Amino acid sequence: MQNLLAQGDPLAQSERVSSAHDEGDTDVLTIDELGDLRGRRVLVRSDLNVPLDGTRISDDGRVHASVPTIRRLQDAGARVVVAAHLGRPQGAPDPAYSLAPVAARLGELLQTRVAFAADTVGDSAHATVDGLTDGDVAVLENVRFQPGETSKDDTERGAFADQLVALADVFVSDGFGVVHRKQASVYEVAQRLPHAAGGLVLAEIDVLRRLTGKPQRPYVVVLGGSKVSDKLGVIDNLLGTADTLLIGGGMVFTFLKALGHEVGTSLLEADQVDTCARYLERAQQQGVRIVLPIDIVVAPQLEAQSPATVVAADAMPADQLGLDIGPDSAEAFGNEVRTARTVFWNGPMGVFEMESFAAGTRAVAQALTEVDGLTVVGGGDSAAAVRLLGFTDDQFGHISTGGGASLEYLEGKTLPGLDVLER
Ligand code: 3PG
Repeated sequence: MQNLLAQGDPLAQSERVSSAHDEGDTDVLTIDELGDLRGRRVLVRSDLNVPLDGTRISDDGRVHASVPTIRRLQDAGARVVVAAHLGRPQGAPDPAYSLAPVAARLGELLQTRVAFAADTVGDSAHATVDGLTDGDVAVLENVRFQPGETSKDDTERGAFADQLVALADVFVSDGFGVVHRKQASVYEVAQRLPHAAGGLVLAEIDVLRRLTGKPQRPYVVVLGGSKVSDKLGVIDNLLGTADTLLIGGGMVFTFLKALGHEVGTSLLEADQVDTCARYLERAQQQGVRIVLPIDIVVAPQLEAQSPATVVAADAMPADQLGLDIGPDSAEAFGNEVRTARTVFWNGPMGVFEMESFAAGTRAVAQALTEVDGLTVVGGGDSAAAVRLLGFTDDQFGHISTGGGASLEYLEGKTLPGLDVLER
């Protein structure tokens, strides 16, 4: 992200995370340890999974975040071969998921010509890589056009990894957003080539360690997004580390239901109501505050023009659905965030893409920019939300490029793509 690239910007009130790393502190191998890279073909796994509107990239944060490592390898005289995925194609070429527009954007940001291979490991890939000279960059077509990339079968993944390995001498893992995936270009390739973590992966680990180690207190976590089932592991773990959990977004209705409230036609995971009830009980026993909204913005339909009203969280009409936290909740959440010394935020508070339901997410984002301490925005939707709402990356301590990956890290899970890089 840009905040990782920014050098020498004045520190605002909030603590900015810089791109400088003490590589000696890490337990994963680093690029410096790969020796002289001049003339060597370096396969870089980047996360270039950006939202596309046709062929227009609507948020290029991940492309920006991938630039420093690629540039560093170019400067070292390597022949850089970028492997990445886009979306979830079904293991076969699909033009809707071509990386071509992303490769073009990468070239603009690098201010260099970026060659694009029309396939991933076929004739075009080989010809493109053979045509590279020292310091050149090529992007391979979407690795997920190959069934071996995401196969559940170790042998199939291994076979595809062998094909990627034929294009390279060395591997650099820089796609933090996919390190929780045991996939060929993330895991098996690292097993087969001399490898190292790229700067982005190191930066992300560095920040997440600060959250899981000894965070400055109060440590406030804001969770939103649509599904509580995606967040169970992290809530479980945070009940042992955070001081306060603020819950909004679609997932809050399962918690409100657990308190016995009417939630109308809102998103609800009926099979998780009991789990939410248990979390509320556990939080109380462990002295962790779970703060739920006290008011909700409701509307008859999920439509931008649907007439919105604000109701108390315990008095939602049966025929309407909740689409944002209400103004009193937004103020309360903002106050909780502003007094924190460490904040992790994952998931929007409402349907921020529609202006009538964006105020809660905007209030939380604004409060994060006013924190005197470390603020981390975790992943995809939240990162897109802050940019769409007009905030800039440098207003936050760190915007993670990995939603799922950062959540799994905070859950305390072993991430295969990091595990495989350990020295
Ligand atoms: C993401 O968008 O979170 C990463 O690029 C991983 O994508 P995936 O969830 O499709 O594996």
